[in-house]
Amino acid sequence: MEKINYPLTQRRLRTDAHIRELTAGFHLSYKSFIQPLFVNEALNEPIDLVGLNGVQSETIHSVLHTIENDIANGIHKFLLFPVPSNKVASHFNFSFATKVVKAIKEQFGNDVWLATDLCLCSYTTHGHCGILNGDHSKLLNNKTVEVLSKYATELAVAGTDCIAPSDMMDGRIAAIRNILNALNFDDVSIMSYSSKFSSQLYGPFRDACSSAPNTHGIKNRKSYQISPFNTNDAVASSLRDEEQGADILMVKPAALYTDIIAALKQKTLKPIAAYHVSGEYAAIEAMVQQGFMQREAAHAEVWTALVRSGASMIISYASRRAQEWIEKIVY
Ligand code: PBG
Ligand code: ZN
Repeated sequence: MEKINYPLTQRRLRTDAHIRELTAGFHLSYKSFIQPLFVNEALNEPIDLVGLNGVQSETIHSVLHTIENDIANGIHKFLLFPVPSNKVASHFNFSFATKVVKAIKEQFGNDVWLATDLCLCSYTTHGHCGILNGDHSKLLNNKTVEVLSKYATELAVAGTDCIAPSDMMDGRIAAIRNILNALNFDDVSIMSYSSKFSSQLYGPFRDACSSAPNTHGIKNRKSYQISPFNTNDAVASSLRDEEQGADILMVKPAALYTDIIAALKQKTLKPIAAYHVSGEYAAIEAMVQQGFMQREAAHAEVWTALVRSGASMIISYASRRAQEWIEKIVY
């Protein structure tokens, strides 16, 4: 029988790591990473977070040490989640959050870029992201925006570099931009959670912030977070937030929604942040624990997907390991 010859076509450029590095379409950099920080007023000591290996819920003191370590590892950008000990239904007190922002900015100044998450779900007794009506059957959009605008100004006064509204109310970006500008905080940027889906993947986070909805009224966040069935809503919400003054748009969760990142990228010149959320992170960590994946490579593979689809920056619970892990990637 005649021997058939199949000459190499694509595989020559896959031969070894040298040529694979040279022909890569892009490279990852730790400079694109933002590290989330949880600071909980109720704690006296930092505690490990279930599912979120390598991340702790911090005290106002321990977080300063953590940031120092992170800076030593090349991470200077942070997304802060302040968790107050006292939960209420109205008349919110933002003093713990502002105290944390002040402490961080006083110690580190411009050596860090500090974004602060802006939402009410870790403040409210019922765990929803805003103010509810009397029988808890509705979330009140305008009242919530009013309170969030006030919260945003307090965070700006405290020194945050960026406000990151995650509440999903309509009109909040314009309201926050207007009030910040009026008070001469026009240099404080807004990173909007603009395409934020109603998702099963926020579980470990809600544990960390004790922010899961818990009322006999509305049971879930579907009346304000975006449906996974609705691509148009996700794109429209981001473009709407851009129009209202958002500087950075965000897609969240990230890895299950790379189609949204890619679609949005076609329609905006604003930078897109991809938030690889707690459940996405915990899923990888669980697989690693079972021996099904190699940890560094698994996270790095997700990061390539986010960058390929168009993200300029990545919010990951492993950001503080990014420099070390990226250095070790085998192409
Ligand atoms: C609060 C908020 C959530 C996350 C960020 N900000 C949870 C939610 O909307 O219930 C999720 C982050 C994560 O899971 O890593 N609005
Ligand atoms: Zn919320």
